[in-house]
Parts: sequence; C-alpha cells; structure tokens
Amino acid sequence: MTFADGGGGENVRLATYVPRVPKPTTVFVCSACATESAKWHGQCPGCGAWNALAEETRTAPNGRAPSRRAARPVRLAEVQAERHDRLSTGIGELDRILGGGIVPGSLVLIGGSPGIGKSTLTSMALGNLQGAGRRTLYVSGEESAAQIRLRAERLPGAALEVPVLAETDLDTVLATLDAERPEVCVVDSVQTLHAADLTSAAGSVGQVREVADRITRLAKARNIAVLLVGHVTKEGALAGPRVLEHLVDCVLQFEGERERTYRTLRALKNRFGSTNDVGVFEMRQGGLVEVADASARFVGEATRAPGSVVLAAMEGSRPLLVEVQALVSPSELVPPRRVANGIDRNRLALVLAVLGRHAGVGVGSADVFVNVAGGVRVDEPGADLAVALAVASAARGVALGGGESPVACFGEVGLTGELRSVGHPDRRLAEARKFGLSPVIAPGEATATLRQALKVALGGRQARAA
Ligand code: TYD
Ligand code: MG
Repeated sequence: MTFADGGGGENVRLATYVPRVPKPTTVFVCSACATESAKWHGQCPGCGAWNALAEETRTAPNGRAPSRRAARPVRLAEVQAERHDRLSTGIGELDRILGGGIVPGSLVLIGGSPGIGKSTLTSMALGNLQGAGRRTLYVSGEESAAQIRLRAERLPGAALEVPVLAETDLDTVLATLDAERPEVCVVDSVQTLHAADLTSAAGSVGQVREVADRITRLAKARNIAVLLVGHVTKEGALAGPRVLEHLVDCVLQFEGERERTYRTLRALKNRFGSTNDVGVFEMRQGGLVEVADASARFVGEATRAPGSVVLAAMEGSRPLLVEVQALVSPSELVPPRRVANGIDRNRLALVLAVLGRHAGVGVGSADVFVNVAGGVRVDEPGADLAVALAVASAARGVALGGGESPVACFGEVGLTGELRSVGHPDRRLAEARKFGLSPVIAPGEATATLRQALKVALGGRQARAA
C-alpha cells in the first residue's frame, strides 16, 4: 500500500509514515481500582467490580525520547533534612491524630461521607491557623463563597478571616496557589476539581488522580501543606482510594452517622505519626466540639437495663468505654433479622453461633439487633464478649450484674466457646475502674469460657479479670 502526498511527487510507503500530531488514545479506567484496559469490559479485569470501567481520552506524549542521563545517588547522611515546627490547627484532637499538628508541605487526605462534617472541621482548622497569623486559603469546588461564609459565621475563631476561592478549574486553583503561597490550604473536595486537558468528568478516577498529582507536585515545590477533602463512596471506600493513598502523606477517616452527634476521626495512614489514635467529636450548633473524655460521656449515658453492657474498647493506644446494647425480639421473618450497628455483621453472626452452641443461649428464629451507643464504631475482636453478654442479657431479660451498676467487659470469643485475651488488658481495666465500673469481666482463670463469663455476669458475682 502506498501513501500519495497529493502534490504529484514521490509516493511514501505508509509503513514508514509517522504522524506528527499526537493522537488522542482512548483507555478504559476502572473507577474502583484504576486498572486500565484498552477495551471495555463489563467486569474489571483488575478488581472484579462490575460496570466500573469508564472511558477516558488521553493525548499521547509527543514522542520525544526519554532522558537516559544517570543521576547521582546521595548518601543519607549528606541529605539536608530541615526540621519544621508543626502547625497547630488549634483543634487538640485533630493535632493529636496528625501526630502533633500539620507538617509544613505535607498532604493530608480527609475522607468521610457527605454531611459528616469535613468542611466544618477544615474550616475551623483554617480559621484557627489564620487567627494564629498563618497564611491560609480555602478552595471550594462544592459550595459558593456565600455558603462558606454562612457556615463560617457559626464557627468560633477567625473563620471569617480565611480567604476563600470558589473554583472548580484545576489550572486556576494551581495558579492561585502559586500566586498566594499559603502555608496551609484546604481543597474541598478533590472530586469537584476538574483538569481541562482530560475529557472525563470531574470525580472520575482519571480526574481525581490528575488533580491530586498536580496539587501534590505544586505543594511539595512551594512547601504548602494541603488538606484534601475526599468523599467516600456508598461502600465506604474513598473514591479511587488506591489512586490517592500512596500519593498523600496522611489519610484521615471521619466516621459516624449523620443523625448522631458523635463523630470519630482516625488516621488510616500517617507518614509523620502513628495510626493508632482516634479523636472523638460532637457536632453542635457552633461547629465540632472535641470530646476529650469520651468514656465519661458514654458511661454516663449507659443504661442498666437488660441488654446493655459497657465495653472497655481500645481505640488504638487509647482506652474508650462504650455502651453495647442488644435487643432480641420474636420474629415472623424467615430468615430473622440480624442487625449490627457499630460492629461487624460477621462478628455478630459468629458470636450468635457460639452463644447457641457452647453457652446455651440460642436466639433461634428471633430478630437480633446490636448497637454501639453514640454512633461509635468498634472494629476489634475485644468487642465479642460485650456482644455476647448484651445478647444473652437481652434474650433472658435479665440485667447484667443485678442492674446495680453497669458491667464492663472485653475479650474475644473463640469458635470453641473459649474466651481469648486481647491487647492492653491493664489499660482497659484501669479505664473501667476509673469510672467505678464493677465487675469487669475479661478472659481469666474463672472466666476461661463464654459459659463461665455468662454465669458471672448474669449471676452478678464479682469477676476477677486477667
Ligand atoms: P459539613 O461540614 O458541611 O459536612 P461535609 O463537608 O462532610 O459534607 O457539615 C455537615 C452537617 O453539620 C450539616 O448538615 C450541618 C451540620 N452543622 C452543625 O450541626 N453545626 C455547625 O456549626 C455546622 C457548621 C454544621
Ligand atoms: Mg463539605
């Protein structure tokens, strides 16, 4: 085959014809795991998600050969590492989760479902920083400047002094960041910004990755600390999580239920601190308020009714007392309902099976509801015993410990009906004692099995903890 150049000159063989203009290519990107493929598939070849592939157009690079020049590695001892003081956000719980404040030039991703309070938290942090004489900038692609002002009016501190930019175009945002050079900037949210050179819609994996990537590069170059707000999907994952997690220094997760007042903030990843801590907040009229002594709150609210028990939980390195409640009620439904709020559904199923098989408490065809009061989520095996005691107490209609004072407990339930020890028993015990909870039921000599623990709890005798 030949290619005619129209001018009547020589024919050029098509095989040697190299187009000069970069040709846009089409790829299909999975919105869950960012796997790319040349063809559309109903199921993502990477993660198996259905109907998650979206088309994206890319302009191919201009075909220049990559640089082959070798770079000189540097011995670590010769690397200049400046130590920066951390920037305090004025919110004690947030500073603690970050590992002592914001590290200058770092990138923090704050995830959470809509309405949880991400904008409120970041507005408050910027207000405090601005009040402390730092240069800040609040970039919002979600709300208008007027809406942001209305929220800021409710907030304490210098929230009204924070400069805002309501903008969704990434290039404008980057240019503004470069011109203003704030020390701390909030981008609310990463899903609303739009890079004009990508054809896909704002919020798609390609866009989110591009936006985060370009913000990261500018922020590192200009030493701007950026708090990136990100929405979580229905399934509870940050949209395009794997795309962003490796890019940022710190991933914070804001959890809780919108209708409840309590919210928890925890670090899923932190390059400058531990990921063990959790902060508890309460949403009030005037913004988020830190709950420094969450245990006192939850114990104070605990009932002594049948179906209630206090769990001495560990939230990272910090003990936290929370009330676990259960309701067992006759049901016509087949299969009966198993509802778990604040604990894992599978753990509930396991505990119910062990209760029936090894402890003589069968719930049979009754509906079972288990709830961690206050909207807190506990994700640790130490919660098993609390679930078991609450369900047994509800099923029997008997208050634990005779209903005099709230009973506390912790421990993992094994498949053969044994109680297994969990981390930090001493700190859990100390926390329960601090609030005068007695007895505290935990894995020990006299309480080696779930059956024995039930006997102690329902009989109201003192238990010796391990
Ligand atoms: P918001 O920070 O906008 O949530 P997100 O950015 O995560 O979507 O706030 C969520 C809710 O909090 C909103 O429904 C109103 C409520 N709220 C208060 O109760 N008190 C307050 O002082 C503020 C600012 C908000
Ligand atoms: Mg918001």
